[in-house]
Amino acid sequence: MDGRLKVTGQAKYGADHNLPGMAYGYIVLSTIAHGEIRHVDTTAAKSVPGVVGVYSPFDPLELRPAKTPVFGDTWVPLQDKEVAYYGQPIGLVVADTFEHARDAAMTIEVSYDERPSRTSLSEGLATAEDAPGQDGTYSILAPGVESIVDALAASPVVVGGTYSTATQNHAAIEPHSAVAAWDSGELTVYSGTQGADLQAVELADALGVDQACVHAVNPFVGGAFGGKGRTSVAAFLAAAAAKVLDRPIKVVLSREQVFTATATRPATVQRIALGAAEDGTLIAVRHDSWSATPADRSFVEPTSSNTKEFYATQNLAVSQKMVPLNIPPATYMRAPGEAPGSFALESAIDELAVALDMDPIELRRKNDSTAPLGSDLLWSSKHLDECYLHGAARFGWASRAPHGREDGDWLVGMGMATAMFPARRLPATVRITLRDDDTAAVVTSGADPGTGLLTVLSIVAAESLDIPRSRITPQLGDSSFPPGGTSGISTATASTSTAIMVAAAQVINDVLALASGPGAPFDGLEVSYADGRVLAANRSMTFGELLRATQRTELSANGSSAPGEEMTKHSFSSFGAQFVEVRVHRWTREVRVSRMLGVFDAGRIINPDAARGQVAGGMIWGVSAALHEGLEIEENGRLANADLAGYLLPVNADIPEVDVVFVEHPDTLHNAVGARGIGEIGIVGMAAAIANAVYHATGVRVRHIPITVADLLER
Ligand code: MOS
Repeated sequence: MDGRLKVTGQAKYGADHNLPGMAYGYIVLSTIAHGEIRHVDTTAAKSVPGVVGVYSPFDPLELRPAKTPVFGDTWVPLQDKEVAYYGQPIGLVVADTFEHARDAAMTIEVSYDERPSRTSLSEGLATAEDAPGQDGTYSILAPGVESIVDALAASPVVVGGTYSTATQNHAAIEPHSAVAAWDSGELTVYSGTQGADLQAVELADALGVDQACVHAVNPFVGGAFGGKGRTSVAAFLAAAAAKVLDRPIKVVLSREQVFTATATRPATVQRIALGAAEDGTLIAVRHDSWSATPADRSFVEPTSSNTKEFYATQNLAVSQKMVPLNIPPATYMRAPGEAPGSFALESAIDELAVALDMDPIELRRKNDSTAPLGSDLLWSSKHLDECYLHGAARFGWASRAPHGREDGDWLVGMGMATAMFPARRLPATVRITLRDDDTAAVVTSGADPGTGLLTVLSIVAAESLDIPRSRITPQLGDSSFPPGGTSGISTATASTSTAIMVAAAQVINDVLALASGPGAPFDGLEVSYADGRVLAANRSMTFGELLRATQRTELSANGSSAPGEEMTKHSFSSFGAQFVEVRVHRWTREVRVSRMLGVFDAGRIINPDAARGQVAGGMIWGVSAALHEGLEIEENGRLANADLAGYLLPVNADIPEVDVVFVEHPDTLHNAVGARGIGEIGIVGMAAAIANAVYHATGVRVRHIPITVADLLER
């Protein structure tokens, strides 16, 4: 629905707002990885023309620690002199123009008492700590088996290795930004996030004001992927500066600043051992993980916790450790845990298939599970087998030669992997307002960071109200709307659609009660509702006509939904099978992905076009993770490639046709609308599928991503 506004430039993102009297803030970043700020010399900055405020830990803006119900604690800047990473926000300069603010920021001299820093995950492994939380370290052993070591020792075939994944940045097209303005003690903030009401809660917390005094507005969000789950430093600083300066403030991070002043997906190291019988039956799975974590230990990439969801095995042991480093904050990034975790697990499964001389699809089918390991709750709806078989037929898997094939100077290989992502819902409330012109408004705070949620609202509301989509006005991205949860953890469609169905049933009830009430057009008659009309015997009226006849302009009802009893009855996940063909140049060892296919079982697909785009985006990101993306952290903590020249992302020339298929089996055990999440599953199996295809083409097993030319030259 918002496509036209976006491609014509009419969609107004946070930083597109310009208010009278507005000033511009520019953020100052640290240039050491660890230590204490001794002194900040702002003399020169204050004399730059147009500068109206310079803030640092010595002259701070008042902010308190903030928290959201979904994403937990959020660090707020300038509250102490500690530096925990290179590129940490340590100051803000505000001036009449962006250029003046930036010029002034460049003149600021910061001196530090530097302390030793640690920035390398591999060097920190020896001193790893247990990760907090319960679900990262556990084992499930068959009766009589003492340990996973015994189970592996008793397995006829054992494979394994150490796998590693790179530090990544979300690199959303829209840099984190905010425009903040106060009016009589009330704050309005325009800033892209994954949930407007969550942002209002966090800002209210940080600023020490009532939540009702904060109005967060973000109808358009230029990509998020977990990186806008929390409120950004730009928004905290803009809001606090706007308060003390008593004028609107705009703060926009530069592209380079986004890499350190927001958050990353931390690097991981994972050790996997698989034990199997000669026929491929898994006997033992061991998955030990180490995640880099920032110095405050605030986020661990949970690569082990979902291993229990992938396959049936007689014995499983996983562990999750973390290595605190002086690196930028870490946070959720598309399929946190599953994306890097499946690279390791699904590579190892491929290695097992090679060791057993077994087809990798046959091996996976043999170990298909009916429930997560250790749980009595069966999957509500699992059609992974159909994904494997449909995908194999569509991709031409049967023509796959044992050791790849050659096409001139190109070595061609095929690989595949399983994808999974848990299906979840969050509490959400939607308000439906029927209007006297026979249209309906559907509103919820939420966010549409390019996911198509706005369109989903209109489709589900049209269906629930039994009127054409052209008569529905969906609205999102405003904290004054009923709380809509987050566009994160692949939950938004399932959460809001279910709430729409509840709201629609309620408002239809209210219309019927109104129609048959005393003195109303259908006074005392038996009434029903269809096609946007109230029906009685041989008469009918549209709801708009009824509202006019009863002297009303509109009629509203709220509907809420939240996870409930179903959580005690079944396990819920989306599933997929992903197929990739790569071409590796015999001499240059350049890797090109030439074909890719994803077949997904994600319940009902509400908007096929947007769903395809969503999943294709995830698959493209998987190519990126496998072959392009990775932040290089120098020993002093500086990111060597924190810009879009050095941080490689695929362009159109890197991406062939992306083939996406949904095998549609609505999952009404999960929610009434039958849709499970699709936001994250697209990326999950891709890196392993590519690594497996590279092995098939070349015989070289690369156990880290991104895979580079150098990895393939070494043979
Ligand atoms: Mo997603 S990584 O929870 O936005």
